Amino acid sequence: ASPYYILAIETSCDETSVAIVRDGREVLSNVVSSQIETHRRFGGVVPEIASRKHVESITVILEEALKVAGVGLADVNAIAVTQGPGLIGALLVGVVAAKSLALALDVPLIGTHHIAGHIYANRLIGEIEYPALALVVSGGHTELVLLEREGEFRIVGRTRDDAVGEAYDKVARALSFPYPGGPHVDKLAQGAEEEIELPRAWLEPDSYDFSFSGLKSAVLAEINRAKMKGEPVREAALARGFQNSVIDVVTTKAMKAAAEFGVRQLLLCGGVAANGGLRAKLSELCGKARLPLLIPPMSLCSDNAAMIASAADLKWRRGEFTSLDMKADPMISL
Ligand code: KG4
Ligand code: ZN
Repeated sequence: ASPYYILAIETSCDETSVAIVRDGREVLSNVVSSQIETHRRFGGVVPEIASRKHVESITVILEEALKVAGVGLADVNAIAVTQGPGLIGALLVGVVAAKSLALALDVPLIGTHHIAGHIYANRLIGEIEYPALALVVSGGHTELVLLEREGEFRIVGRTRDDAVGEAYDKVARALSFPYPGGPHVDKLAQGAEEEIELPRAWLEPDSYDFSFSGLKSAVLAEINRAKMKGEPVREAALARGFQNSVIDVVTTKAMKAAAEFGVRQLLLCGGVAANGGLRAKLSELCGKARLPLLIPPMSLCSDNAAMIASAADLKWRRGEFTSLDMKADPMISL
């Protein structure tokens, strides 16, 4: 069969990304323009500014993606786009661009769930075996998702308050690191010589849900306590304690769910999959349990359009297309 090309667009948060993927799995280009520098001085993503930046960048990134891939618009067979969840103004920019392209090129539109994208980033590096369990850890999401079959998602656990990345960013901010602070806390924790033991929120014994706000508060309380007493803040020991608590809880729950549901594979995904401690611990536990583990390379863990193309490809193969009157949906369910 002749090759087919999916052009995918992702603009759900602060990354403008366009990718060209051949036959659903071969990434020809995956251009990502990050707005981090713009948002940094505000200590987080400012939705209104994010939308405007997407508008400024989208056509430039689109042209770049086509150029890198060596593919012309006339070769494109389908347009995939993140429909949600995300920031409504940011999503709208991608959705409007995608609809315009689909209409102008007269090719199908494929609306895609952002988390399905994070999960199916793993399909770009390996063969997914079902049933599989995905541990999704990002700045906006923390979920355990069971995939009994391809394209079928069941959320078996989710955070009840902060996402893991969000907790990292808040702790980083309290330790005066710039946004996004996750990588700084990770580095500090890995270099620490001691650890301040912090609580673990296990919740109900049979629950796969998570909670990180209490842990974050414990970190802030320790910083305040030290400052009040005029003691130096033991930043590294605190970062280590925080990181160990997070990793202990997410990996323990993931392994328990993997055993309970008898999965054949564990998939790690989302921006926090970059965390050195988390990768190491999960690899160790999966090795002991003889459970195959997939972790995408960094470029496919943080927000990018190639992962959206990968998830959209499953719909393409089933001929499941999206109407042009589709609406960006910030709260869409998986
Ligand atoms: O998936 P992502 O790029 O964006 C969302 O969809 O949220 O994830 C970004 C999040 C940020 O909170 C960032 O601090 C966190 O991932 N992060 C990390 C590390 N690298 C990125 N958190 C902990 N350790 C890291 N090494
Ligand atoms: Zn994301």
